[in-house]
Amino acid sequence: MIDVTPSGQACGATVRGLDLSQPLSPSDVAVIRAAWLKHHVLAFPDQALTDDDLERFTLSFGGFGHDPFIAPIPGRDHIIAVERLADETSPLFAENWHSDWSFQAVPPAGTCLYGITIPPKGGDTLFANQHAALDAMPDALRDRVQGRIAIHSARRAYAPDGAYGMADRGKGRSMDIRPSADALATQAHPLVRPHPETGRMGLFSCFGYIIGLEGMADDEAVPLLIELYQWQGREAFQYRHKWQAGTLLMWDNRSVLHCATGGYEGYARLLHRTTIRGV
Ligand SMILES: [Fe+2]
Repeated sequence: MIDVTPSGQACGATVRGLDLSQPLSPSDVAVIRAAWLKHHVLAFPDQALTDDDLERFTLSFGGFGHDPFIAPIPGRDHIIAVERLADETSPLFAENWHSDWSFQAVPPAGTCLYGITIPPKGGDTLFANQHAALDAMPDALRDRVQGRIAIHSARRAYAPDGAYGMADRGKGRSMDIRPSADALATQAHPLVRPHPETGRMGLFSCFGYIIGLEGMADDEAVPLLIELYQWQGREAFQYRHKWQAGTLLMWDNRSVLHCATGGYEGYARLLHRTTIRGV
C-alpha cells in the first residue's frame, strides 16, 4: 500500500510503502508520477539503494538527462556525487535558487538525489513552488514578466571565469566540476509557461541561469530578474527538506526551484544524483 503524506508546506510529500531496491510495477510508477506532478517534490525515506537501484528508479520515469560540467562518479555515466568533505572550505555548492540545467534546449524534467552520508545538522534542501509564486504574484510584477522570453546560460557558474570556473579550482572542492567555454552558450525559454505535463502555468527558472530577457536592456532586465528572484524564493512558497541517510528525493525541475543550505561545518556529506530527461 503506497502512502503519500503531504508536507503541509507549499509543496512536497513523503511516500512510504515502497521498497525502491526492487523494480517498480507499472501501477507503482503511475501512482508515483501522479503524486510527483501534484506535490512536485517526493521524499522516499528508509531506503537502502545501490547505484543500480538509483539508475533503475530514474529510468522508470524517463531516460537519463545529460549532465554537463560535473564528471560522473567512476564506473557510471549518469550519476554525479554531490559531496563535501568535513574539512572543506570551498564555497557551498548550489546555494542559490535554480532549476537544474535550465540553460539546456530540453532541460531535465526531474532530479533524483539519494542521501548516503548525511550530517547530523544543517544541509537542508529548500524548494520553492513556482506555480504558487506565479499565482500569488502582484499584478504590477506579473505585468512586467508576462510574455517575456528569458535568456538562459550556464556562464555565471561554469564558464572558465564563472563561480565554479578556474578561480574555484584551487579551493579544495571535492566535487569534480569541469568548467568549459561550452557554458557561454545561450538558450531561450518563456519565463511564464505551462508545465509540459500538467499545463499548469508557472515561472520557469530564475536569475542565475537566466542572464537576461529578450528585447530588454540588461540595465532594466537584471534588476527585474533580481526582484523576481526575491519573489520566487519567498518563504510562503517553500518546502524545507531535512535529510536523513537512506532518503531518495525526486523533484520536478519544471515546477520548483531548489537551493542548498549549509550549517554542517565539520561534517562530511555525500549524495548521489541523477537527472530525468525532459521531453
Ligand atoms: Fe541543483
